[in-house]
Amino acid sequence: MLRRDLCPIPRAVRPCRLSQPQAFQDDGYPMSTPARLHVAHALHEVFGEGGRVPDIWDRDLGEDAHLAQALLGLCLRRWGRLQAWVKPKLKDPDRGVPLGTRVSLAMGLAQLAWLPGVSDHAAVNESVDLAADRDLGFVPHKGLVNAILRRAAKDRVALAAELDALPAALDRSPAVDRALNAALAPHRAEGELEALWARLQQPPRPDFRLLKGDVPEGLVPVAGLPGCLCLEEGAPFPRPWLEASGGMVQDRSSQALLAYRWDQPVTRILDACAAPGGKTTTLALRHPGATLTALEVHPKRAARLRQTLQQRGVAAQVVQADAAEWLEVCGVTFDLILLDAPCSGSGTLQKHPEWPWLKHEDLPRLTSLQRRLLTAAADHLAPGGLLIYAVCSWLPEEGLAHREWLEQARPDLVPAKVWPARPGATSEPGDEATALFQPHPLRWDGEGFQGFAVRRN
Ligand SMILES: C[S@@+](CC[C@H](N)C(=O)[O-])C[C@H]1O[C@@H](n2cnc3c(N)ncnc32)[C@H](O)[C@@H]1O
Repeated sequence: MLRRDLCPIPRAVRPCRLSQPQAFQDDGYPMSTPARLHVAHALHEVFGEGGRVPDIWDRDLGEDAHLAQALLGLCLRRWGRLQAWVKPKLKDPDRGVPLGTRVSLAMGLAQLAWLPGVSDHAAVNESVDLAADRDLGFVPHKGLVNAILRRAAKDRVALAAELDALPAALDRSPAVDRALNAALAPHRAEGELEALWARLQQPPRPDFRLLKGDVPEGLVPVAGLPGCLCLEEGAPFPRPWLEASGGMVQDRSSQALLAYRWDQPVTRILDACAAPGGKTTTLALRHPGATLTALEVHPKRAARLRQTLQQRGVAAQVVQADAAEWLEVCGVTFDLILLDAPCSGSGTLQKHPEWPWLKHEDLPRLTSLQRRLLTAAADHLAPGGLLIYAVCSWLPEEGLAHREWLEQARPDLVPAKVWPARPGATSEPGDEATALFQPHPLRWDGEGFQGFAVRRN
């Protein structure tokens, strides 16, 4: 049985053989076995269950987390070509191959091709061990995995060249093509799909926001976005600074979204979908005199939100509730409402390379939830108040479709031009500001986001 929670690996149910470091791991880029097991579990979760890789999947791996992250990223980002490379080497290419075999082979091949610091021994033998693992592999294919990987290990440079030469489209699913086309269409840039895909295949680099004190060494400002910081080339990840709440990780699209220009009085703010609390924190910084209510429907996420805000010294009332239900009974209106709605996350492809392979059938459920939340938020906007709706998705049904519907259904709400009209943003020619937040996916180096702002008459 595979566990849903990938971390930590339950030692009691793992064979001891695989819990011990292997004798051959004496190369300069060793990979401990727990790291490989974590990667295999994560791949089973994605390709077996259609589930996401939990954020904390590598929590207990220590230094090995770097290599595990690299290997998991390679397997997810290049899954299609890894499978395509193997297929002609099988006796019966059209017969289905068990997931355990595909995972063992993909992990072995990815290490041989793209992780030159991993020795042949480590890449091959541990993948063969994995194939022989009753939970994660497919025991009858141990010999097959061994034969394919040993042959591939004879010329690793040629293997990398063959894999790199396969078409990039193999690594995309139909859902990805749809998302990329949706990202490019508003900018009339449909012809740049391959360039966008190539950009999204690069490992993501984090952005940060200063919360208090000095900027730590190694972080530099992002031009044009005050308060946004990024890591200098080669600088260490600023973990101590983050742990001391000197700053937080926040993608530059979120920061740009919250750089709205609004000079009307704001005394009551609602963050309707708040966890994990990055935007709640920014709202508190932007409007220090206002009272701030943060809603979150999931109990665990609400508890974490409360804790995070406390650590950061953010004064907010955190309520665990469905935002629409809570609004119905709250009896107040708000001068500023942020609805950062739950969505498909199609704009987070770079950070979540498993996205192409997830089951995406819950889109209708999400769009109707978004509409329900938007209606409730619109109903509780004070006269003259500002409502910002956003999703980290490029799909029009999660963004612009709601805006068009709102325009028709709610004449009391008018577009509020609160964002600077950057080059590449969708705005009317000559306009200095726009009510539509839709950064160009190639000219803007942040996550895919869509948003719009309306004001109540
Ligand atoms: C996109 S995330 C919000 C991210 C957050 N604004 C931030 O920047 O840190 C959406 C959140 O809405 C929560 N959510 C989903 N349905 C909800 C509902 N009906 N009411 C309130 N929160 C909901 C999800 O659990 C999730 O934490």
